[in-house]
Amino acid sequence: MPYSVRLTVNGMPHDLALDDPRVTLLDLLRERLALPGTKKGCDRGQCGACTVLLDGRRTNACLVLAVTLDGAAVTTIEGLASGEELHPIQAAFLEHDGLQCGYCTPGQIMSAAGLISEGHAGDDLDRIREGMSGNLCRCAAYHGITRAVQDATR
Ligand code: FES
Repeated sequence: MPYSVRLTVNGMPHDLALDDPRVTLLDLLRERLALPGTKKGCDRGQCGACTVLLDGRRTNACLVLAVTLDGAAVTTIEGLASGEELHPIQAAFLEHDGLQCGYCTPGQIMSAAGLISEGHAGDDLDRIREGMSGNLCRCAAYHGITRAVQDATR
């Protein structure tokens, strides 16, 4: 028997029937809703590549079962900009070279956006590093990432 879930993704309502209760939000976004911006790294809550905003809070999409999301609002990297205008944190990542290969970048940016909107970033670099510690970057572009978050916080 399919599970029925109604949720909003990037402002668009979706009525979904899920056959498998084990489908994660990450797989739902990438495979069912054709939103591949949210990346799959570890698929076990360790790397942060799959970070989205779930009801405004930073969440690892690989750790959330889609069947639990009835009534939820999800924002992915595809929904962060306003039309052609980048979100300030996206512009700051470009300005400060907060990326190298780019694979972790959507997760980094969503995490930073959540951190800033929660008011937990501040201007202090150590605080920013701690707040962003759930997002790993194998290229080690941490200097630019930290500066971008600091700049976007101001
Ligand atoms: Fe979700 Fe790594 S893919 S935390």
